[in-house]
Amino acid sequence: MRFPPEFVDRVQEANNLVTIISQYTQLKHSGSGFMGRCPFPDHAEKTASFSVSESKQVYHCFGCKKSGNIFSFLRDYNGMSFPEAVEYLADKAGISLPEIQDPQKNEQYNEVQDKKKQMLKLNKMALHFFTETLKRVSTDHPIKSYIQRRKLTAETIEEFQIGFAPVEWEGLANHLHRQNISLNLAEEARLVKARKEGNGFFDIFRDRLMFPIVSASGEVLAFGGRIHDQGEPKYLNSPETLVFNKSKTLYGLAQTAKWIRSEDSVIIVEGYMDLVSLYQAGIKNLAASMGTALTAEHAKLIKRMTNNVVCLFDSDNAGQQAAERSLPLLLAAGLYPKGLILADAKDPDEFVNKFGVEALKQKIESSPELFNMVLQMWMRDYRGEASQKVKIMDQVRPVFDAIPDKRLKSLYAQELSYRMNVGLDWVRAALTAPLNRPEGSRVASEYSSGEGTQAVLKNSEIPARKPLISISGAPHAEILLLQLSLKSRANFEQVCSQQILSQISHLGIKTVFEKAEQVYRQDDSKFDRLTSLLIEYVDAPELMFSNSSDLDEEKEKKMISDCVKRIQQLFLKDQAKRIGQGINKNDTEKLQEIGELNKSRLSLNKTDKN
Ligand code: UTP
Ligand code: MN
Repeated sequence: MRFPPEFVDRVQEANNLVTIISQYTQLKHSGSGFMGRCPFPDHAEKTASFSVSESKQVYHCFGCKKSGNIFSFLRDYNGMSFPEAVEYLADKAGISLPEIQDPQKNEQYNEVQDKKKQMLKLNKMALHFFTETLKRVSTDHPIKSYIQRRKLTAETIEEFQIGFAPVEWEGLANHLHRQNISLNLAEEARLVKARKEGNGFFDIFRDRLMFPIVSASGEVLAFGGRIHDQGEPKYLNSPETLVFNKSKTLYGLAQTAKWIRSEDSVIIVEGYMDLVSLYQAGIKNLAASMGTALTAEHAKLIKRMTNNVVCLFDSDNAGQQAAERSLPLLLAAGLYPKGLILADAKDPDEFVNKFGVEALKQKIESSPELFNMVLQMWMRDYRGEASQKVKIMDQVRPVFDAIPDKRLKSLYAQELSYRMNVGLDWVRAALTAPLNRPEGSRVASEYSSGEGTQAVLKNSEIPARKPLISISGAPHAEILLLQLSLKSRANFEQVCSQQILSQISHLGIKTVFEKAEQVYRQDDSKFDRLTSLLIEYVDAPELMFSNSSDLDEEKEKKMISDCVKRIQQLFLKDQAKRIGQGINKNDTEKLQEIGELNKSRLSLNKTDKN
């Protein structure tokens, strides 16, 4: 749902960034704000260089330069989308979500929301039941030796909240019943099933190692249960429920989202065990697709965290097919996919156990573009025959059609031309020529009428990240002026009164100042919120924070006027240069103008020396 801006404001104001961040790192009062050790996992530090301003509700790390507001923190640390963060914060502050206008719809909506909440609570209870059960089983229980065989450490079991569903038919059912939980709801959550005879309920998960599927924000959505002995199916999964949609969910994000953000890349694996095992071995920027093909929604979820994807495929036919299917999907979402099929092991888990984590890291480092990998598969029997060329072009066409970025398209076209040994012009023409496909052919049906195209179409609708205002590369004086302006209300007003805006050379900085002034003029009580607001719009938020600790007021005043002077100088110099371009000696009027400009510039220099 889209939230009205006033609602977002209210939710933001009802929460405190200091409280949120304190869940992850210890913050201590310092100067006008709080300091602590940076909570982001890629920045392990011994001294505290992470600052949080309570009045402005922003954070900035002087060490690794990460900065943002409450929403960007929840996104970067927990992988939440904006609406998820709003819902999470609203819930935390006890604010109910905005009502839908139509009263009938509203009632239905509330009912569904209510049920979702109850189901999530129930799932959490089930999770605790499973983890407690695992803690209580005796040391000679077969599940213990299974865990040992899979090399799962106690730490990993704890981190991923892995549990055990007991062998009894009514373990969980009885437990829930004792807690006065409606078993009908548990049936809707697909944890128990009503007996046909109408007397009570029995457990669906029995005698299985339980992997809870937890969202980035910590909600327990569903379970996957692995048999530890012989039996079918190997994994039993919760089917779709009110709170679980497999095609929108990736396994592991509760633990891995922060690593994905900080590494700015994600490695996609297929299985629960692959994810847990790689995590345990030290590769942590992971997500698992739980054995299903990636969907447009998965791609969207990934896009929120990073643009860089490495897909690890199992070394069987299914793995190859998954690679082919994922390619147009990931490209359509504007991601940069790489791919890796692991030879000599059936899956990543087996690979690390056989060859060690360093070997896998190396493979991941050197993994090729998924496009090249798939192309190589398609060209396995390529002998350069004309008909083969045409057929390959037919195969790559839907892939090309899915790519939104023209630059990438043109590079891939070059790759094709090189690998197939045909001219680039021919490739370009072939990419727009009418397709030649027999009716009902596998490729044609897969992409043109079935799921494939739909997914691709849906994908192409995914908006790229909001275009940001670029402030990187601006002159030092302009960046410094921005930093000083945002530091205190007095500074901001001093800068506004200087009317310097029109002389700022960097378009990004100028836009930011304009936005800031506009907000401030509308409502000057918003000064404290300016930084947090602007953070959303700029490409390099860290530049908005000054590195010098608190200077005294006088010094700051002096620095501001120095910046203003410097900006004026740059402006005048630039003007003179512009007029000077292509001028001829006899153009006295222009020469005079330049003379004047230079004079004003020099006079600025003089006052500078005073
Ligand atoms: P795999 O068969 O590759 O299993 O299925 P795995 O993850 O390597 O598990 P181990 O190592 O044998 O224990 C990959 C994923 O496909 C889904 C699961 O999510 C699994 O992790 N799957 C597989 C099922 O849902 N049901 C099944 O019966 C099998
Ligand atoms: Mn496996």
